[in-house]
Amino acid sequence: MPPLVFPPDFLWGAATAAHQVEGDNVHSDWWAWERRPDTPCPEPSGIACDHYRRFADDIALLAGTGLNTYRFSVEWARIEPAEGTFDEAAIDHYRRVVETVRAQGLEPMVTLHHFTLPAWLADRGGWRAPEAPARFERYVRRVVAAIGGAVEWFCTVNEPGVVAFGGYLGALGFPPGTRDVAAWKGAIRGLVEGHRRARAAVRELHPTARVGATHSMQEWEADQGGRPVMEYLRRMNEDVFLEACTDDDFIGVQTYTRVRVGLPTLVGPLARLALAVPPLESALVPLTVRRETRRASEQAPAGASEPAPRDRGSGGVAGALGRDGERLTQMGYEFRPQAVAATVRRAAALHPGRPIVVTEHGVATGDDAERVEFIQQGLAALHAAMADGVPLRGYIHWSLLDNFEWARGYEMTFGLVAVDRATQARTVRPSAHLLGRIARSGRLEP
Ligand code: FCB
Repeated sequence: MPPLVFPPDFLWGAATAAHQVEGDNVHSDWWAWERRPDTPCPEPSGIACDHYRRFADDIALLAGTGLNTYRFSVEWARIEPAEGTFDEAAIDHYRRVVETVRAQGLEPMVTLHHFTLPAWLADRGGWRAPEAPARFERYVRRVVAAIGGAVEWFCTVNEPGVVAFGGYLGALGFPPGTRDVAAWKGAIRGLVEGHRRARAAVRELHPTARVGATHSMQEWEADQGGRPVMEYLRRMNEDVFLEACTDDDFIGVQTYTRVRVGLPTLVGPLARLALAVPPLESALVPLTVRRETRRASEQAPAGASEPAPRDRGSGGVAGALGRDGERLTQMGYEFRPQAVAATVRRAAALHPGRPIVVTEHGVATGDDAERVEFIQQGLAALHAAMADGVPLRGYIHWSLLDNFEWARGYEMTFGLVAVDRATQARTVRPSAHLLGRIARSGRLEP
């Protein structure tokens, strides 16, 4: 079989997000959330990967593999720790990060909001607060004025669907932890408006930059009984945001797995629903999806109770299988690298002709050979989509480093580079070398 050839100007990268790697993000909502007595987080983020200090070494590691792009986020809570007070030292820090990325010959891709909010805004309702979109715009203007000249790719909001669903509907253990449909819908409105304002601000200050949101998209599969629920979930988690992005310069697609919604899946939650009072929407959605994304270690029946707070789970269960015999990752997701090609095809169908970048794709595993397989299979499926005309411009792997995986803590290892939690020592994994070789040659050997 001949090698699969990718275009010469393809973006090949690895991603991080500030809160997950920098450490000591003390002015953020997540920092407070991790410390609440009822937090779902098994451990606090703490010093994380100490990337705030070690960024230059980490960027050098990335460049050394052969990749050409670094996607990272700037942290609103550091830049504006109190309302209207902008920290020039923090802004300078990100200026240095961008300079370092450029000096290493890499393309910077900057995310302006990756899940975290400054605590002062969270205290007022976060994305539900009427002033949130305008405050976001004001912060974005400061950032773009400082670093915009050197950055050609901006992501406004990372996975707005996950922010709304995971935090405001309380489905993923994210702050603010409300379990309320009105809060969920209010957050969706705020995120959409925030994205639009940020996009307009980037365009005004830096007209040649490319700006877009990044979308969490699943390869959905439903049997006839599950179809209405699947369509509802897909609409609320993906389509409302994709529709708000018809004017973006690119569509960022982030896919980890396939989600199957079947009638048997719904039987447990529906039986519970019959006994419970909460409104259909609010109860149905988290229950059904939790069943699909359950931990590998839980293996609980559909609709089983939530994980106990601070239950660490067993993390990387090697060789764990799901109910239907499917391979599971540490996250409890189905191991399905090719899911990303299904979502990229869907994004292309919804936005014909618009450039697409896979801004995240990765796997939590304790066995790097699985990551190698995940990358190879994912890229082969993406190549086939490109051959069918999908305008894919890049592939950015999640993540550069093992890091703080939100409400799942440090046991989930997504890194191309391993991080020793006790010593902070980095070890470049074979998967990083593989992806770097593909990037350098532009070829995937079958
Ligand atoms: C995505 C997030 C990213 C990381 C991966 C595993 O939803 O954008 O921060 O946690 O999942």
